[in-house]
Amino acid sequence: MEEKKFNQIGVSFKGSGSYVPDQILTNQKISKKVDTSDEWIKSRTGISERRISSLGDNVTDMGYKAALNAIEKANWDVNTIDLIVLATSTPHDLFGSAPSIQAKLGASNAVAFDLTAACSGFLFALITASQFLKGGNFKRAVVIGADQLSSFVDWNDRRSCILFGDGAGALAIEATNEFDNFIGFNMRTDGERGSFLNLPFKNDRDSIIDNIDFLRGGFSPIQMNGQEVYKFAVKEVPIILKKLLKETNYSSERVDWLVLHQANQRILDSVGDKLKIPREKILSNLEKYGNTSAGTIPLMIDEAIKNNKIKQNDIIATSGFGAGLSWGAALIKWG
Ligand code: UT7
Repeated sequence: MEEKKFNQIGVSFKGSGSYVPDQILTNQKISKKVDTSDEWIKSRTGISERRISSLGDNVTDMGYKAALNAIEKANWDVNTIDLIVLATSTPHDLFGSAPSIQAKLGASNAVAFDLTAACSGFLFALITASQFLKGGNFKRAVVIGADQLSSFVDWNDRRSCILFGDGAGALAIEATNEFDNFIGFNMRTDGERGSFLNLPFKNDRDSIIDNIDFLRGGFSPIQMNGQEVYKFAVKEVPIILKKLLKETNYSSERVDWLVLHQANQRILDSVGDKLKIPREKILSNLEKYGNTSAGTIPLMIDEAIKNNKIKQNDIIATSGFGAGLSWGAALIKWG
């Protein structure tokens, strides 16, 4: 890497992009596969349908399309991008999918790597990239959240399969020495409670030769204790957001938009209530996409910008939470 140092103090948000596969799986269709109903899923989660990847929609493809979108909005020459961080738990290549996205974009000057933190992944990646920018090492970064959980869902488990879908989003962020629109952040992990939500290694034993065993690569479907994850989210997310608002001297009235990881409408409403943020400020699109893991937050931001909801200088309080268990929050000003 070429040695560069910029005299920069802050981060500016320059563009957003997103992509979802065309295939739509409605609640009605799921109820032909498992014992559930549109009414049950909608009332317990707010979800009506989700997108499912088919060939040509893997994490690299989706991440590339979302990133290209964000780069076009930012009006950047791809050669000026220094960093690409891809948040995903479902890479198309376990060695990392970010380099393939870098190649597809032709962003040959960018360093590119994956970051895994499940549903907190996008937020953790955004925080990571922002620290590189503020540290003076990089000027322009693309942060992508993309997941293809449909490949790892147990489609016979009605307690979890109803929640998830596939999709991707991306933000283009730039270092600046004029202001700082990345106002603050907080991150937490509690591995003790990790068993509430897993996509575990299969541990299939096989033999190489004589007495030498090895474990064949592969993953078991998602295992989830829905009630515990629910309780965790409605307790911890308000706490971390309140702490962040206090530390940054922002009252919840100053928040224009609450952009939470799109897990369950009841979680979104409960967090909003605890922060005294009115429903009209809580952005939600999970009805159409379900939980796209690392994809939800940038997908939501991109949609809200396209719909003229999020505007220049709006204050966004955002929080990601999920497997790990991990959770975090960031306060940003758009633009
Ligand atoms: O990124 C984080 C990802 N994970 C999450 O966000 C999960 C958070 N948790 C949740 O969203 C909720 O816990 C669920 C939506 C998963 C479940 O809702 P719930 O209100 O917590 O339901 P429950 O697990 O308490 O189950 C209530 C009943 C049970 O029946 P019994 O034991 O009362 O007879 C379940 O067997 O609902 C049954 N049930 C279903 N019925 C119809 C569970 N799943 C279904 C289903 N359709 N899909």
